[in-house]
Amino acid sequence: MMKHIKKQDYTINRQDRAQINQHRSCLIWFTGLSGSGKSTIANLLEKELYQQHIHTYSLDGDNLRRGLNKDLTFSKEDREENLRRTAEVAKLFVDAGVVVIAAFISPYTKIREEIKNIVGSEHYIEVFVNTPLEVCEQRDVKGLYKKARAGEIKNFTGISAPFENPTHPTIEIKTVEESPQKAVAKILEVLKSKL
Ligand code: PPS
Repeated sequence: MMKHIKKQDYTINRQDRAQINQHRSCLIWFTGLSGSGKSTIANLLEKELYQQHIHTYSLDGDNLRRGLNKDLTFSKEDREENLRRTAEVAKLFVDAGVVVIAAFISPYTKIREEIKNIVGSEHYIEVFVNTPLEVCEQRDVKGLYKKARAGEIKNFTGISAPFENPTHPTIEIKTVEESPQKAVAKILEVLKSKL
């Protein structure tokens, strides 16, 4: 399909945008179970970066599934497509000079690898929000685990669909032991050399 498509180059590039912004760009990708705390930490991180005058944009599973990805289910294939599209969007934002904060369950190792390849490994920071299933289920902030246990939601991650733990995340956050503030501090430390 790409046979007759040639990449179009433009004069102004990432480096030029970084110069104007006075910082570089990257993708910070949060992965973890539903209710693990991805969005809470992502939100706090964005507030902190905003205060430092860094250009950010947040992409979130629940939000993208209401628009761009509203045709997709939670089957393995559709999750892959959900994340592939999101990674392509993130790549455009990163190219535009923005620090992208993405919070998606992203349960498969293979697709996380693909996300890294799409955006480029040098621009990719993977944050594994490692909260045990029992804790997520106990919190059950949205009441989804209860529904999944009752069989009202199919393919629910951790209950009736898999979550493959990342083996080499850039950063691992154990929310049972670490506060969101501490998690953000850890991420900012890694970001220092990237921005
Ligand atoms: S994925 O696996 O990365 O494609 O999922 P994602 O796009 O991040 O969407 C996760 C949010 O969708 C809600 N939800 C479900 N999650 C998991 N499994 C099933 N079956 C499901 N159905 C709906 C849920 O609110 C997730 O949000 P978070 O913020 O992770 O709790």
